[in-house]
Amino acid sequence: MILITGAAGYIGSHCALNFSENNIDDIVIFDNLSTGHIETVEKLQKINPKIKFIKGDLKNKNEISDIFRKYKIDSVIHFAALSQVGQSVVNPSLYYLNNVIGTINLLNSMVENNVLKIVFSSTAATYGEPKYTPIDENHPQNPINPYGNTKLMIEKIMDDYDLAYNLKSIRLRYFNVIGADEKARIGEWHNPETHLVPNILKSVFNNSSEFKIYGDDYDTKDGTCIRDYVDVLDLADAHRLALEYLNKNNKTDVFNLGTQGGQSVKEIFNISQDVTKQKISYKIVGKRMGDPKILLANSKKAKDILKWHPKKTVHDSIKNAFEWEKVLNDKLKASN
Ligand code: UFG
Repeated sequence: MILITGAAGYIGSHCALNFSENNIDDIVIFDNLSTGHIETVEKLQKINPKIKFIKGDLKNKNEISDIFRKYKIDSVIHFAALSQVGQSVVNPSLYYLNNVIGTINLLNSMVENNVLKIVFSSTAATYGEPKYTPIDENHPQNPINPYGNTKLMIEKIMDDYDLAYNLKSIRLRYFNVIGADEKARIGEWHNPETHLVPNILKSVFNNSSEFKIYGDDYDTKDGTCIRDYVDVLDLADAHRLALEYLNKNNKTDVFNLGTQGGQSVKEIFNISQDVTKQKISYKIVGKRMGDPKILLANSKKAKDILKWHPKKTVHDSIKNAFEWEKVLNDKLKASN
């Protein structure tokens, strides 16, 4: 049985769906529902009735330890974390408690129960300001915000636990994740939403949330920031491949997950207008603090070693995200 923490959230839920549809269906989800949604879990359980859900908080060691006593867990996919960069700057204690202490409780429970394999959601934010581009896994890690610090600390803790307790981890450092399930059963659902694609799409439904571009005077081709967008379905595949790799090789390793395409904010905006067939209004506002002008991944290692081949184009991802956004918009309207 596989334990997936944080599978009521965006990336974790797509991973649970991907596993379920690839015959890895014996899954227990552990989530405190602080940012994830019970509706997402219910949807997953409808698709895969074998999924068990335990509402619990990693900050409470006994709640996570119970899972290992109750179920025969072979490996863990660990998504549960707070992930808003801006919020982490204002409230770092929340981030160190949830992300670092929560993960230590998880890892200690694993070691105590002799469960020694974990795939971990890390992030491009552990690199900080790029020294060169595209960024490979050997790029120095100097996070510039508490969120990135928490993820880097966890990576280091995992190294120490490997040496001392033989706990093997695959760390996946994601770049900018976009997209949604192709059947719009699940998708990105943050409150508040801070990410580019959902913010553009939300402005289509809600006149009061005019889309804002954060800065158009960066030193880039069109003045807006460039990011490496990777589809959430491709990302879910990478987790499955990472688990297979871990089971086969029993070896700690780290992989970047991006596509190295590199789109600017304006390009994403234009693709969104094409997909939605709407003229979307926007305004240019000041730069957002801490946004590097360009972030591109070198993901050669994941392609070579994990045999990961991302398939979705940014257009595909935005199309799926738009279909999901329609569903979400109806759902939210109905509940108001
Ligand atoms: N942007 C806008 N308007 C918006 C939202 C975003 O112009 O309403 C711009 C941002 O300034 C940035 C780009 O769109 O240039 C992408 O921004 P996102 O907020 O979608 O994503 P980030 O690049 O800030 O963050 C992502 C992950 C973080 C991770 C970070 C690593 O979401 O979890 O990459 O650098 F920490």
